Amino acid sequence: MSKPRPDDTLTVLYDGGCPLCRREIAHAQGLAQRQGDSGLCFVDISADASRDATERAALLARFHVQRGDGTRLDGAAAFVAMWQRLPGWRWLARLARLPGVLPALELGYRGFLRLRPALQALARRLEPTPGLGTHLERELRSDHAGETGAVFIYRGIATVACWRGDADLLAFAQRHGETEAEHLRLVEEWLPPHRRSKLLGPWRLAGWLTGALPALAGPRAVHATIAAVETFVDHHYQQQIDHIATHGAPDGLLPLLQRCQEDECHHRDEAAALAGPGRNWPLRLWCALVGSGSAAAVVLARRV
Ligand SMILES: [Fe+2]
Ligand SMILES: [Fe+2]
Repeated sequence: MSKPRPDDTLTVLYDGGCPLCRREIAHAQGLAQRQGDSGLCFVDISADASRDATERAALLARFHVQRGDGTRLDGAAAFVAMWQRLPGWRWLARLARLPGVLPALELGYRGFLRLRPALQALARRLEPTPGLGTHLERELRSDHAGETGAVFIYRGIATVACWRGDADLLAFAQRHGETEAEHLRLVEEWLPPHRRSKLLGPWRLAGWLTGALPALAGPRAVHATIAAVETFVDHHYQQQIDHIATHGAPDGLLPLLQRCQEDECHHRDEAAALAGPGRNWPLRLWCALVGSGSAAAVVLARRV
């Protein structure tokens, strides 16, 4: 908040809980700072507990500014008073002095107020998850898609293991699957449903096939596949951990990624030991396909 001057201060009373107001006021604050002596002071009404509920509700319902003498303007007149003090916007304030323009602006503002709830909801959906920022949100979307795929890889393995009556392979799939389900649950705590990948259906199917197809060929193919997938996942988590080491992240996110990475490395090492050395060429080809498919899925899941 810029410091009010007792004489000529115009206090902008805005709704900091509204994504539309936040954007507009952030822009105005930038212009006011550039001006230096705009005499504008910004107060977030949504965070101002000192006012009684009725006054707060009235101030949140319409845009208000307060002059140095305590009198207030609202609606279009309040915008004009603010524009008057902002470089690049004064021409609009001058235009509003022409006959009929201020009532027309007020009419437009009332129309906007009717649409505001729908526009706010839309803006909230487009905003990054609070505390995460766009980059980390994309990364977590790829983690969520990956852990969803992982849960379904083990479901695919378990389905075929049941069908083949392979108790060892079924136990392997159930044990790993439980860890992946826990990873998925933990990632879901960070990423609200509307921020998750829109392609979860295809990720589930791709995961299920990535588990079931090698299971048809036998346990060794399954173990080689898991070793290939988890090698990729280890690198994927490491890259996110490195980014956080440089750029930071909200409390609790780094330990979550480290914990997932550690589990994936255990899965990789156990599967690699069970697969043993040497792979025939079809298995090497399949594992290469699984690795590059995982990389492509991450790129897509970050965006969609
Ligand atoms: Fe996982
Ligand atoms: Fe895993």
